[in-house]
Order: sequence, then structure tokens, then C-alpha cells
Amino acid sequence: MNLPSPANPTPGVSAHDTLEQWEEFVRQRYDPNRKKEDFRNYETATPGVREFYRLNHSLMTRDFVLARKRKYLPLDKMRMGVWEAMEQLEALVDDSDPDTDLSQIDHNFQTAEACRRDGRPRWFILAGLVHDLGKVLCLLGEPQWAVVGDTFPVGCAWSDKIVFREFFDGNPDAQVPELQSRLGVYSERCGLDRVDMSWGHDEYIYHVMKPYLPEEALYILRYHSFYPCHKENGYQYLMNPHDERMFHWVKEFNQYDLYSKSNEKPDHTAIRPFYEDLVAEFLPAAVNW
Ligand SMILES: [Fe+2]
Ligand SMILES: [Fe+2]
Repeated sequence: MNLPSPANPTPGVSAHDTLEQWEEFVRQRYDPNRKKEDFRNYETATPGVREFYRLNHSLMTRDFVLARKRKYLPLDKMRMGVWEAMEQLEALVDDSDPDTDLSQIDHNFQTAEACRRDGRPRWFILAGLVHDLGKVLCLLGEPQWAVVGDTFPVGCAWSDKIVFREFFDGNPDAQVPELQSRLGVYSERCGLDRVDMSWGHDEYIYHVMKPYLPEEALYILRYHSFYPCHKENGYQYLMNPHDERMFHWVKEFNQYDLYSKSNEKPDHTAIRPFYEDLVAEFLPAAVNW
């Protein structure tokens, strides 16, 4: 499959650097051993991470999200299987930083292996394996700021729980009063399925996997970066009781996403047969992207 080369919005900052910096920042920010008083201390954010959030928060308008959904959610861009998507992600990293020792595919395997070690159900382990495959958006030409980062609802007031909240001052939606009330275009406890989330790899992989995975797994895929909610309890007023029940799984999953990373490279050859069986159990050889 021929894909365009990765879009790189910030000159001098590679796609891989941005992904890595953002993920390291998130890991530090949500470190369970971190003292309360340090929690909103953003000094650990590198200039690259700050610039990433400045772009994300100032450009992620409701119109942008709706346009991206119209563009991508017909899922008519390509057909490929999970393993091909993994290889494409690997290529993204290799292109931009051949010296890196841990890649996106390692992160996927490490997350899934941590779930497996804890005896999680097979669908949960599979969610671990595929949760970040939506990052292939980078290979479809999407800029980093529209692929990764904490997610949040658009179309209503931005919560103070969102990291770098101040960067929303530059977002054109800040000038639209109907989008700036607590509920905005939504109603009290309308349910998250009716809420448009900021565009990124979470929403995309949710739709790609929707026909095949159980609902609990789909919640994990769709909301794993919704830190303002699953870590900081913001936006409860948009959730219905079903969301609240399902978020049990989103919260359970987060520990594996954040803390499974070690410098030990997974032995792909040894573990791949288990995952080939697992993928084949739930997914066809190729799916629509
Ligand atoms: Fe992710
Ligand atoms: Fe992840």
C-alpha cells in the first residue's frame, strides 16, 4: 500500500519526536506517585509539547471536527489488516528516527502483553493491541496535533481539567457564545455518543473497529485519551448512566496504556502467534480505514 509521507507541521520536529514527547508528557502528568501539588505543574512540558498543545487547542474547532468526520468516517480510504497497519506505524517511526529503540508497535505489544499478564479477557488484550492504530492518520497526511493529545468535547465550554486550557483562547470557537456555555449544543446527560470529541486517533480507530469488537473494547478505543474525564472527572454532566458503567473499562485500561512501557523490547517473533490467533478470532483479514 502506498501512503503519502507523514505530515510534519513543525519544522525541525519529526513526527516521531512529537509522538514520543507527548506520550512522555502524559505519562509524567498522570504518574500515580506524583504529589498533588505538582499535578498541574507543566514545567515538565518541553517546548515541543507546548507547541503541540498550542496548535491542538487553537485549531481544533467544532467545524474542523465535523469536517474530519465527513472526510474519514466513510472509511473509504483503504482496506488493510491489523498487521499491515502495525507495519505502517512502524514505518512512520523508522522514517523519522531510525535510532529509536522502542516504536509504536512495541508500545502496542507492551500494552497488550501487560493486559495478558494480568489475565484480562481476550477482547481487552486485543483492545490493548489495536488502541493506537488510529495513528495511521499521520500517514494519511494528518498533522500531529490532529492525531494525538488529550481529547475533549467540542461544541461546549472547555473544562478547566484540560491540560493547557489557556491555549483555547486562540480557538475561533471561543468567539461563538452558543459553543461556550456549559452544555453548548448538548443537553444534560445526553450520553457521550451524541458528543463530538476532538478529532484524533481514538475516534478514528473506534469507527474502524466498531463492527468487530464488543462495546467495552470500543469504549476503551474511543475514550482512552479523554483524560479530562477518565482521570479528572470532568464532563460528568454529558455522560449517561451507561457511559458511567462503561468507563469502568476505560479507567481499568489506562494503567496498561501509561505504565506498561519499559525499555525491554518485546520479542515479536515469540509473541506474534498468540496475537495472530487473537486478531483472527475477532477481525477479518482486512478492514476498512
Ligand atoms: Fe492512544
Ligand atoms: Fe497508547
